[in-house]
Amino acid sequence: MLRHFLSLEDLKAAEIVALLERAAELKNMWRTRRSCPQIMRNRSLALMFEKESTRTRLSFEVAAYHFGGNALFFSPKDSQLKRGESVADTARILSSMVDLIVTRTGSHLTAMTYAEHATVPIINGLSDAYHPCQLLADLLTMQEKIGRIENTVVAWIGDGNNMCVTWASAASLLGFNLRIATPEGYRPDLDLLPNGQDSECIEFTASPYEAATAADVVVTDTWLSMGQEDQEGHRPQAFEPFQVTESVMASAGRNAIFMHCLPAYRGKEVAANVLDGERSVVWDEAENRLHAQKALIEFLLD
Ligand code: CP
Ligand code: NVA
Repeated sequence: MLRHFLSLEDLKAAEIVALLERAAELKNMWRTRRSCPQIMRNRSLALMFEKESTRTRLSFEVAAYHFGGNALFFSPKDSQLKRGESVADTARILSSMVDLIVTRTGSHLTAMTYAEHATVPIINGLSDAYHPCQLLADLLTMQEKIGRIENTVVAWIGDGNNMCVTWASAASLLGFNLRIATPEGYRPDLDLLPNGQDSECIEFTASPYEAATAADVVVTDTWLSMGQEDQEGHRPQAFEPFQVTESVMASAGRNAIFMHCLPAYRGKEVAANVLDGERSVVWDEAENRLHAQKALIEFLLD
C-alpha cells in the first residue's frame, strides 16, 4: 500500500516508536562505519524544493547515497514548474522514474497535490503547516538524551509556526506534555491537528518562564519563517521577551536540554550562550535528521 509522510499523523504512534528504534540502529551502523542495507540500489529519490535548505537536502542526499541509490535536487529554477507545468503533471512524470519524492513547499496544499497525483511516496520536507521530518529527528534526540519521550514536559517558546504545530502533533500522538508560550497573536493554528484544541497534552501560557518551569526540553525556532520575509513588522518587539536566555533555561529542569531545528539566529530567538552552551543538543539534533530519515525511507520503500 502506498504511504505518504505529509504530517506526523501519517504514522501511527507505534510506527513512530519502531521507526525511532530503527533510526538508532542505523545511527550505530553509521558511527561504526558499517554499511547499511543497500535498499536503494537502482533506485532514486527526487527533492522538489521551493525554499532554501541545508540540513534537509543534505540528509536526504546522503541517505540515498548510504542506501546505494541516488538523489536529484530541483530548486524552482531547475524544472518546468517555473514555466507553468502543473504539480500534478510533475508528480506523474517523477513517479515514472524515481521511487520517492521529497517536497519543500510554500503551501501545504502543494505537498497534498503531489501526494494526490504521485504513485510513489511523498515526504514532506517542510511546508508552511508542518515539518514532520524534523520532529522524527527531534524525538530521536529526546530518546537519546532524556531516555524517554513519554511523560516528559516540553516547553515551546516563540512563534506558533510550522515547527510548533508539528511538536503539538507529536505531543498528541506520543503522550508528552507541551507547554506553548507565544506572544499574543502568534499562537499556533491547532485546527491543523486532527484532534485540534482538544488535546489534553497541550497548554498555553504567555510567560516563557512559566512554560519552562521544570521542563525536560526547551525548544524554539526562528521568529520569521521562510516565506514570511515581508512580515517582519512588529515581530522583533513582540518576540523579544520570548528569547530563550540562560535565565529561562534556569527555570527548566536540572537536566533540561535546549533544542532548535536550525538555522538559529543568535541574539534573537536564542541567546548565543544557550545555543552554544552545555545544555544545547542542536548539533546532535541536526545529525539525527540523517538517521531518522533513513529509517523513514526504509519504512516507506518497504
Ligand atoms: N531544520 C531544517 O529543516 O533545516 P534546513 O532548512 O537547512 O533544511
Ligand atoms: N519555521 C522555519 C523552520 C526552518 C527549518 C521555517 O519554516 O522557515
